[in-house]
Amino acid sequence: MSTTQTSKIEIRKATSSKISSVDFENLSFGAVFTDHLFECDFKNGEWQTPVIKPYAPILMDPSSKVFHYGQAIFEGMKAYKDDNNDVWLFRPDENYKRFNNSAVRMAMPEVPESVFIDGLNELLKIDKDWIQKGNGSSMYIRPFMIATGPGVVANPSDEYKFMILLSPAKSYYSGEVKVIIAEHYSRAANGGIGAAKAAGNYAAQFYPTNLANKDGFQQVIWTDDATHTKLEEAGTMNVFFRINDTLLTAPTSERILDGITRKSLIAMAEKEGLNVEVRPVIVSELVEAAKNGSLKEIFGAGTAAVVSVIKGFSYQDVYYEMTSIENSYASLLKEKLTNLQNKLAEDTFGWTVKV
Ligand code: COI
Repeated sequence: MSTTQTSKIEIRKATSSKISSVDFENLSFGAVFTDHLFECDFKNGEWQTPVIKPYAPILMDPSSKVFHYGQAIFEGMKAYKDDNNDVWLFRPDENYKRFNNSAVRMAMPEVPESVFIDGLNELLKIDKDWIQKGNGSSMYIRPFMIATGPGVVANPSDEYKFMILLSPAKSYYSGEVKVIIAEHYSRAANGGIGAAKAAGNYAAQFYPTNLANKDGFQQVIWTDDATHTKLEEAGTMNVFFRINDTLLTAPTSERILDGITRKSLIAMAEKEGLNVEVRPVIVSELVEAAKNGSLKEIFGAGTAAVVSVIKGFSYQDVYYEMTSIENSYASLLKEKLTNLQNKLAEDTFGWTVKV
């Protein structure tokens, strides 16, 4: 293992690569990681020297607060390789901002740009060979922060670890997606942490999502906790509904994640001249539209999910399914978005940033 120092990041390169053992054509989402990771510790009130090192397990005190009180946040981002072998990030400034908003909400220290952005760029350069070219392939990036300070007293940790992992990715969902609309369980509540990308928001969904899985549904569309009448998000993605030719999506709130794919699709749809309404979408309105045939499409939008078509939904034990249509908004927007991200079309929005 050679040790060098580049622009304040200590770099310890792996002596061998596991890349030749990876089947890039058959990747399960988030299961394979590259040769290196980025790590930076927060101790004594300041961020320490960051390091890029071989991917390996970490050693932690069993009393670390993340294990007991769940101080943990993360982001999901992607990098793409173009035909010239240049690597591009999609709106990294937005992920960086959202990460620090999550940190503030979870009483964790904000991560400096020089750590988050410079660390990510350096890591991507080192593991560049792992990034596959072509629309449909990307490098999924998982920045995260955990509370590493010891002691089971219930207060915020004074030590943290920020890390970035890279995982070559294809699609998140394989096959069709059917959803259940939540009638009892809630993902988030006003005043809670729903808008933060906090690990606990995901853990809280596992039990109700398992119940949905048992009935043959892949995801739950969460509704507002107070009345269960407003459609909010699907947990792994924001959701869009097309009723006649209008594209609807819920406004973000303290219960809903401010999705970067979501806001990009809204901007692209508006640019395409589609009629977009960002407003509360009511469950009864959706059921009525499904019954009278005006519900044309439902799809999810997220970094991992990209644009994922939702074939049908269940509400009050009745299943409603849409017939597939020509001129689908989901197909149009997915093509526009992924062409832009993969540098196969001009980026008129200025969202792509070269590594
Ligand atoms: C992402 O889309 O990046 C997410 O964080 C969702 C996650 C459940 C894979």
